[in-house]
Parts: sequence; structure tokens; C-alpha cells
Amino acid sequence: MIVTLNNLTKRFGDVVAVDSIHMQINDGEFVAFLGPSGCGKTTTLLMIAGIYKPSEGEIRFNDRVMNRVPPKDRNIGMVFQSYALYPHMTVLENITFPMRLKKVPKDKMLQRAQQVADMMGIGHLMDRRPGQLSGGQQQRVALGRALAKEPDILLFDEPLSNLDARLRLSMRAEIKRLQMDLGITSIYVTHDQVEAMTMADRIAVIKDGRLQAYCPPGELYDQPRTLFVAGFIGNPPMNFLEVEVVRENGEYHARTGGFDVVVPPERAQKAAGQGKVIMGIRPEDITLADQGIPGEIYVVEPLGRDDLIDVQIQDLHFRLLADPSLNLKIGDPVQVRFNTEKVQFFDPATERSLLWD
Ligand SMILES: Nc1ncnc2c1ncn2[C@@H]1O[C@H](COP(=O)(O)OP(=O)(O)OP(=O)(O)O)[C@@H](O)[C@H]1O
Ligand SMILES: [Mg+2]
Repeated sequence: MIVTLNNLTKRFGDVVAVDSIHMQINDGEFVAFLGPSGCGKTTTLLMIAGIYKPSEGEIRFNDRVMNRVPPKDRNIGMVFQSYALYPHMTVLENITFPMRLKKVPKDKMLQRAQQVADMMGIGHLMDRRPGQLSGGQQQRVALGRALAKEPDILLFDEPLSNLDARLRLSMRAEIKRLQMDLGITSIYVTHDQVEAMTMADRIAVIKDGRLQAYCPPGELYDQPRTLFVAGFIGNPPMNFLEVEVVRENGEYHARTGGFDVVVPPERAQKAAGQGKVIMGIRPEDITLADQGIPGEIYVVEPLGRDDLIDVQIQDLHFRLLADPSLNLKIGDPVQVRFNTEKVQFFDPATERSLLWD
């Protein structure tokens, strides 16, 4: 099923929760909606499900305009953050409930329920009630319920946020695998960028109801089109500083105060001669070196595998990752190198990329 959103808009009084979103989700694709709290993710999902009516715009499933189609006729499976299982029903009754509404014949219904439950490793729990299950098991019942009705589209709204870190990790993998095997067009709402990056074929980044970016995870990371996306994707986040890019003796320099780095022309060209621009560089693209720009260690934060180091150069701060065995201490003098093949530049007024936009 192809899902198309055309100029999709939702207003609640003066609040514009979703602001003219245009996008298409391909058949069998797994798309994540990623964005900070309140950006309009759930509202968009509920419009696709038919629970909210759009204020403007159009929703299509394949070629069919769905705006006036009631939720029960959309053949959607939904999984929410609160699993919303019926507490008085058994696992079996929970899983078969949507099929009973659809009037699926009893034999087929029981067979589907058992098949899905076995696939999710809860086939032996069919007689239990939700209160007698662990959080992860309840989550799988909710998933099973959404899947067993054989939906055309799966909608997930932060389905893993109630689980502990370990369970999240394994459920993340299970959902991804299941979605791939079944090939059901899926939309997965999250504000966890790791979840979005690891699970989705494409990520839609939403901010203030507007679509900021829509592309595969790798492209989002390497070619951020806006300052917001650059700062939002990646942990620890990208470093930003205000520089001026000038051309001297055939070389491009990004400089500010006493800081000066040479940047390859293909990165610097558009930023040159623009006055002050914002340079972005990821922590992994700054390394400690024997010969580099001198600075001083401001803070060391051990992360386990790496130390997150804050290096001060003049009055600028940069975060980078270092090997814990170096045993770096606050106040140590260090020299750093910038991998300028990877720097980003943004227009400070429009906050748009000077490389990819
Ligand atoms: N029924 C409603 N009435 C009025 N305003 C609403 C309603 N539902 C949502 N909003 C507002 O619309 C905006 C988007 O809300 P939405 O629930 O879609 O955000 P979200 O991206 O899902 O956030 P979160 O990550 O916190 O779940 C918010 O500003 C919210 O306050
Ligand atoms: Mg929400």
C-alpha cells in the first residue's frame, strides 16, 4: 500500500499541529517520524488512521482518497505506547478482537492468532490475561493483535518507550525483522533518533509541524539540509561555530579569532565570501594529533568505550571522542586536527545547508 500525504494540515484552534506536510511512503516501506515532543507526530498518525480529520489536504492509500473513509474501513493495525490491551480478556481474545470486528471466520481467526503468537514467542501464553504478563510480553500481544488482522498499513506510536533498555533493543530488532518479512507499509513514530536510524528505510524529521527532511538514515547523517537536522541527528551532537570562509592563494580557509583550518574547495565554495556562516563538525571528525591546533581539555566525560572530551581552543569549545587509555585529565594541553572533508556549512539567517540544499 502506498500512502501519500498532500498538503496535510491540522489545526487545533490557533495551534498548527501539522503544517502542510507533503510526502509519500512506498509500498512495504518502513518510515520513521522523528522529532521533538509536540512537533506533530502523533497528530499526523491519527489523521492517517482516520481518528482525526485533516483541517486541510489529502490522504491517499494507493490511488484512493481516504479523507472521508471511517477508521474501521482503513484496515490499519496500530500499536501505541500504552499497549491498550483489554485487561479482562485473555491474550487470545485480545489478539482476535480486531478480527472478530472484521467478522473473520472462526477457524481462520484462531489459526491466524496462533500463527502470529507463535511467531512472536507468546504462543504458550494464550490463556493468560495482560496483568499476568511482563511488559515485553504485553508489547508483543499488542503487536500480535495489530498483525493478526492482516492490515494494509501498520502504525506505531512510540511502542517501545515503556520498556527497559535491553528489552527495547531486542524488540527493536524483532519489529524490524517482522516488518521486513511481512512487507507491510509501516510508519513508526519516535523521538528516539537511535530507534529511527536503526529501524527505518527512510526518516521524516518533523519540527513544529513541518517536514524538515525525508531521506534514508545515512543521508540524514552525512548530508543534513538544515541546521536543525544537523544538530538533532547524532549523539554526541555535531559541534557548531561561527566562521568566515575566505579564499587565499587558491585555498579556502574557515577562520574565526585565532582559529584557522583549510577546507577542501568542494565543501567551502558556496560558503566563501558569505560573511559569517555556521560551520558544523561531528565529534568523530575531530581527533587528537601530535601536530595540530593547540587547545586545553576543559572536561572529560567517560562513556565506557570512549571518553567524551570537551576541548577549549581560544574561547571555543569542541566535543570529541578519545580513547580512555590515554587517561586525559582536565587542564591537559592537547592538539587537535579537524577532518575538514566532513565539515558542514549553514547560512545563519535561513539555517539551511550551504552544501546540500
Ligand atoms: N486535541 C488537541 N487539542 C489541542 N491541541 C492539541 C491536541 N492534540 C495535540 N495538540 C497540540 O498539537 C501539537 C502536536 O501534538 P502531537 O501530539 O502531535 O505531538 P507529538 O509530536 O506526538 O509529541 P510527543 O513526542 O510528545 O508525543 C502540540 O502542540 C499539542 O499540544
Ligand atoms: Mg506523540
